[in-house]
Amino acid sequence: MNVTRKDFPEGFLFGAATSSYQIEGHAFGGAGRTHWDDFAATPGNVVRAEDGAVACDHFHRLDEDLDLLKAGNFDVYRFSTSWARVLPEGRGAVNAAGLDFYDRLVDGLLARGLKPAATLYHWELPSPLADAGGWRNRDIAGWFADFAEVLMRRIGDRMWSVAPINEPWCVGWLSHFMGLHAPGLRDIRATARAMHHVLLAHGRAIQAMRGLGMSNLGAVCNFEWATPADASPEAAEAARLYDGYYNRWFIEGLFKGAYPANVLDGLGPHMPAGWQDDFAVIGQKLDWFGLNYYTRKLIAPAPGPWPAHTEVEGPLPKTQVGWEIYPEGLYQFLKRTAAEYTGTLPLYVTENGMANADVLVNGACDDAPRSAYLEAHLAVVRRAIAEGVPVKGYYVWSLMDNYEWSLGYEKRFGLVHVDFKTLNRVPKASYHALARALAR
Ligand code: FCB
Repeated sequence: MNVTRKDFPEGFLFGAATSSYQIEGHAFGGAGRTHWDDFAATPGNVVRAEDGAVACDHFHRLDEDLDLLKAGNFDVYRFSTSWARVLPEGRGAVNAAGLDFYDRLVDGLLARGLKPAATLYHWELPSPLADAGGWRNRDIAGWFADFAEVLMRRIGDRMWSVAPINEPWCVGWLSHFMGLHAPGLRDIRATARAMHHVLLAHGRAIQAMRGLGMSNLGAVCNFEWATPADASPEAAEAARLYDGYYNRWFIEGLFKGAYPANVLDGLGPHMPAGWQDDFAVIGQKLDWFGLNYYTRKLIAPAPGPWPAHTEVEGPLPKTQVGWEIYPEGLYQFLKRTAAEYTGTLPLYVTENGMANADVLVNGACDDAPRSAYLEAHLAVVRRAIAEGVPVKGYYVWSLMDNYEWSLGYEKRFGLVHVDFKTLNRVPKASYHALARALAR
């Protein structure tokens, strides 16, 4: 890998990211049922109906996995915490074993000199809360703030950073409009509500954590660069709308106290009453902002009801999940985010990485395309920094192969190979290359 730690400003942080349902093994340690268990058990939603019951068995292999972070020369670990592991019913009774697990995780990181960066919600909503309407129900903001408080009363004193919610677009649009993630709805009214309540819940959780005296709190959104499929004004308009509900909706809500007008054209009639009055809560002061970035999309107009557009296959080289490799999009987002929304606020690339059809040959895994992908994206991060964008860190998705949601265990995003039969971990070539690049 033609990059080293020294190519970045002093203090720039390198991390790896994972999430609870994707690695822990939800069958263990008294975790409650989640809407991902329900979604996966419904035919047609997930490849081979796979779920996170065992996943990478991180619950039992915690120390081995933390050792991999340490040996990889990372500075910080971005993990998430399962609501249902802490509060099996979503509210009320606490699962002591769940709190103990996150306590061990945090102490294990600190003992190895790694900074703990927690995300409170990475999608595994407790099923009883889904029964009560989940993200469609405004009360979720209070339930979520209560969860934040219960958990952070236990581990908040040792957090380096916390973000309430991973990728609000996935919580809102992907899960309630496209139906591709739990709860698998395709309903515009549910979408409008989820898209708003997810930000309200974010704000309430930040308030709860500030109430505990916590600092270095942020937000993490995912971004996809929207390229018009052709030179027509209609394609430009279609791409602007995609950019609106994918990229701008959340960041505009967080930092400007408003939603993009072109998105309200469609969602406006379905918004919950009084939404305009919630921006004081949504717009809590933040200490940093995180961008998850993987790819771009080509967008063309299409017949039918709003949003009346479609994705078109692009010409660029693609990863195992069919996503075009487009580092320029990350550069554009870093520039645009600082210029239009966050100013001097520290920015982090909180996820970036690729799926590759990795195989073990004689106990080794040569994932050269992944090293190239990371190198190309790190190069644009450097370019943005050189031009004055305050990027302070970069996290690879993911530390290890894991449960890739509706794609099951087939798509491999890890720096570390996981054999899902034996659960053996084998660091791939990209892990070793990165470890050398990050050596101090
Ligand atoms: C992101 C998710 C993460 C993983 C990667 C590939 O959207 O945050 O859980 O699925 O994509």
